[in-house]
Amino acid sequence: MRLVYWCWCLALASVTLGSLAEELEAKVNVVDLRLKAEHLFHIASLSNNTRAIGSIGHEGTLHYITRLLREHQGFYDISSQTFNVTFNSIRDYQVSVDGQAVNASAFYYSPATGNVTARAVAVELGCEENDYIDIDIKGCLAVAQRGGCTFERKAQLAKSFDAAGLVIYNSVPGEGLKGTLTRGNDEVGGLVPTFGMSLEDGLKLVNSVSEVSFFMDSAFEKIETRNIIAETKTGDHDNIVLLGSHLDSVEAGPGINDNGSGSITLLHLAQTLAENNIQTENSIRLIWFSAEEVGLIGSSFYADSLTEKENLKIRLMLDYDMLALPNYAFEIYEGDDLVDPVGSQQIKNKYSEWYALHGLNYTFIPMDGRLDYVGFAQQSIPVGGIATGAEKLKLLEEMEMFGGVANESFDQCYHQTCDNLQNLNYNAWETNSKLIFNTLGSYAESLNGFPARHLVATKSLADLRYMYRGDELFI
Ligand SMILES: *[C@@H]1O[C@H](CO)[C@@H](O)[C@H](O)[C@H]1NC(C)=O
Ligand SMILES: *[C@@H]1O[C@H](CO)[C@@H](O)[C@H](O)[C@H]1NC(C)=O
Ligand SMILES: *[C@@H]1O[C@H](CO)[C@@H](O)[C@H](O)[C@H]1NC(C)=O
Ligand SMILES: *[C@@H]1O[C@H](CO)[C@@H](O)[C@H](O)[C@H]1NC(C)=O
Ligand SMILES: *[C@@H]1O[C@H](CO)[C@@H](O)[C@H](O)[C@H]1NC(C)=O
Ligand SMILES: *[C@@H]1O[C@H](CO)[C@@H](O)[C@H](O)[C@H]1NC(C)=O
Ligand SMILES: *[C@@H]1O[C@H](CO)[C@@H](O)[C@H](O)[C@H]1NC(C)=O
Ligand SMILES: [Zn+2]
Repeated sequence: MRLVYWCWCLALASVTLGSLAEELEAKVNVVDLRLKAEHLFHIASLSNNTRAIGSIGHEGTLHYITRLLREHQGFYDISSQTFNVTFNSIRDYQVSVDGQAVNASAFYYSPATGNVTARAVAVELGCEENDYIDIDIKGCLAVAQRGGCTFERKAQLAKSFDAAGLVIYNSVPGEGLKGTLTRGNDEVGGLVPTFGMSLEDGLKLVNSVSEVSFFMDSAFEKIETRNIIAETKTGDHDNIVLLGSHLDSVEAGPGINDNGSGSITLLHLAQTLAENNIQTENSIRLIWFSAEEVGLIGSSFYADSLTEKENLKIRLMLDYDMLALPNYAFEIYEGDDLVDPVGSQQIKNKYSEWYALHGLNYTFIPMDGRLDYVGFAQQSIPVGGIATGAEKLKLLEEMEMFGGVANESFDQCYHQTCDNLQNLNYNAWETNSKLIFNTLGSYAESLNGFPARHLVATKSLADLRYMYRGDELFI
């Protein structure tokens, strides 16, 4: 509460004059959001319409953000964190039985293998060494059902028992299975080529007496990129409010909503704080993460590399992506203190109170691992965030709550070339930017009543909670 110090006897007046939260909220400027979006689109247009890692559009984005921050060097400490991403592309693959191709997918980060012909051997869930004991799996194709542990764990165990490959089949009927084995933020190794199948096809394989033929043509490329970090010079650096968004787009498009909208709002916030010389009780750390679209790599790298001491200084992490989808809904990540780091639920409540106060409807969406909060949650840091939808179809109830069109995708341009300047809903973007400014103002001013930090070994729990890593299933 910034006004209290000059006249705390007029505390009532300071409330009427407005808290920092309200002061900041009033400063959201949609013209500035628009100008920044145009600038980003221009950057992408010089780069074959993409800002994906490894492209010049990506370098352009990094330079753009850094340049804007450097205008406020007196206000922020600016740094960057460089890391390597192992990028995987599956060029071709096949699984066949008796010369007939089986409908399979290839899991990302599978190592390559030439043609192999092998016996299929069922290994239950393939999560425990016990599943492999007493069976001769060497050189065979292990066949495991989905569930019980991550895909990565299954592929590691199959490798350690010298299987030639692995099939993971779905646990529910009627659907194929596709996913990723790992995040490419470390050396990828110790895995077997892994294929996904429907429950029906998997069981067929288990019961087949014929041998299975398969190959996997998979390529790996190392790309160096960086996260950009700005922290206010003032405020208590032992109590940090951290806001994140991701700065890369997918390869397929310019990513103006995804990631443009989130990272532009954070840039707008960075400038607003500095230009108004806003002093806060708690420090504010803003991060533009790289390599989100290839498995939340930049954010996980950042969270994993925090020392225990640095980790405990971060009181909460708020994640913002896709704030302005054309056929939007107001969605809040449903943090739950029973399974997410304690405090996540309070963040969720803060967002819902804000929407309710403004007479707006909102829905909760599961914290299932699709965004950059995952690495922080796995390191015990309370997390929260909002979004406006993704590729899914809008339900009739959601049309009643938010307008727009039912039975149509929230974003028909999700991860495509047309995620451009026409793909933004400025009303949704302005509303969500106000919510972001307000929430930041409130937490930066006071964390009274917000749970104190402690480290708990939640990693394996969180691993099971977060079924996705970005867009790909992980478990
Ligand atoms: C530009 O993008 C198109 C479609 O995404 C692709 O086919 C083409 O090879 C790219 N060109 C360059 C120079 O990267
Ligand atoms: C979004 O991602 C693209 C692609 O990597 C990047 O060039 C751009 O700078 C990012 N936008 C923002 C505002 O960070
Ligand atoms: C990334 O990999 C390259 C090539 O192996 C290496 O020279 C560089 O030091 C690595 N960068 C980081 C930040 O680890
Ligand atoms: C593997 O078999 C496929 C056909 O099933 C063939 O096209 C390919 O050339 C073979 N690859 C190798 C490395 O033998
Ligand atoms: C193969 O699997 C995909 C995904 O489950 C499905 O859409 C497609 O119809 C299947 N194709 C055949 C020939 O069964
Ligand atoms: C909220 O949703 C209800 C339907 O559930 C609808 O009648 C109402 O108009 C919506 N409010 C706003 C502000 O859109
Ligand atoms: C949406 O699709 C369902 C079934 O596919 C249909 O019953 C319903 O009428 C459609 N609603 C709208 C608003 O188009
Ligand atoms: Zn995104």
